[in-house]
Amino acid sequence: MAKKNIEWDKLGFGYMKTDKRFVSNFKDGKWDDGVMTGEDMITMSECAGVLQYSQSVFEGMKAYETVDGRTVIFRPDLNADRMYDSALRLEMPPFPKDKFVEAVCSVVKENIDWVPPYGSGATLYIRPYMFGSNPVIGVKPADEYQFRIFATPVGPYFKGGAKPIVIKVSDFDRAAPNGTGHIKAGLNYAMSLHAIVKAHEEGFSENMYLDAATRTKVEETGGANFIFITKDNKLVTPKSKSILPSITRRSIMTVAKDYLGMEVEEREVYFDEVKDFAECGLCGTAAVISPVGKINDHGKEIAFPSGMDEMGPTTKKLYDTLTGIQMGRIEAPEGWLKVIE
Ligand code: PLP
Ligand code: COI
Repeated sequence: MAKKNIEWDKLGFGYMKTDKRFVSNFKDGKWDDGVMTGEDMITMSECAGVLQYSQSVFEGMKAYETVDGRTVIFRPDLNADRMYDSALRLEMPPFPKDKFVEAVCSVVKENIDWVPPYGSGATLYIRPYMFGSNPVIGVKPADEYQFRIFATPVGPYFKGGAKPIVIKVSDFDRAAPNGTGHIKAGLNYAMSLHAIVKAHEEGFSENMYLDAATRTKVEETGGANFIFITKDNKLVTPKSKSILPSITRRSIMTVAKDYLGMEVEEREVYFDEVKDFAECGLCGTAAVISPVGKINDHGKEIAFPSGMDEMGPTTKKLYDTLTGIQMGRIEAPEGWLKVIE
């Protein structure tokens, strides 16, 4: 085993082709056993369901090298559960959950030299995904599907790593009240591309989406959930049926309660109350915990007391504890780390 010769600490959040990926096909009503392959290219019908009607769902999780040299994956069972739910919502045959976790572990094992070393600041991002692969021309679900998992080493999602970012309140909506915001479907991201390109052009790192029905409540960003810290040190995080149930956010809620003894509120968060919070952060697999320094609301700025230089003190404690658990420095709750044997 020899780690790849990569400048790990210089990596951004990008794709790099690694050695092996897992591929399984669904045909005649069942999933095959799947294979590990070096082939990264996909050939399919010009009329494949995914190309015509965007029938695709995906997941994202990370593998870490721990302080004591183990390789672990953070809570892949929850990604298996969520991908199952995503598939059902898009009328796709769910991939069996136990096989999902097994295949994720195999992909990490087969690409072990690509797992960034402990302390490098990089991690191995794992991307399972599934799409309709046979020709579909009338609007209906495909009959055949492909499930794949690749892995790629990544650095921080936002440039500058843990430096506070500035985001804007978006005039676009991400998800309808009874739509697909709660699942990880590619279509949710396609429709956010125009909004993120515009936000970047205006100098903002991300969009804060509000609820589409009333535009009074905080939903999430294009790729992460929100956490807020009140002035009396409570963790508040938005509850909504149209946001992605972030595994990082659910883990942070446990960390806040059980490790830091904080009070935690998962509830509707009105945009009007955001100005009263002491700290704000984005959380997700890619974002980890990224502090938000300012939110621009149509030219009016909300500047959090934690400022633009570094993370607020409570966000930092949450960050240190969560990443400490992920990297084996702090004891993890039962079942959170899947060790690659
Ligand atoms: N919200 C959106 C829209 C996302 O794309 C992600 C990323 O997966 C998250 C939230 C965070 O979810 P998780 O913590 O499970 O990665
Ligand atoms: C993840 O955090 O895994 C995501 O899918 C978010 C995406 C914006 C990269």
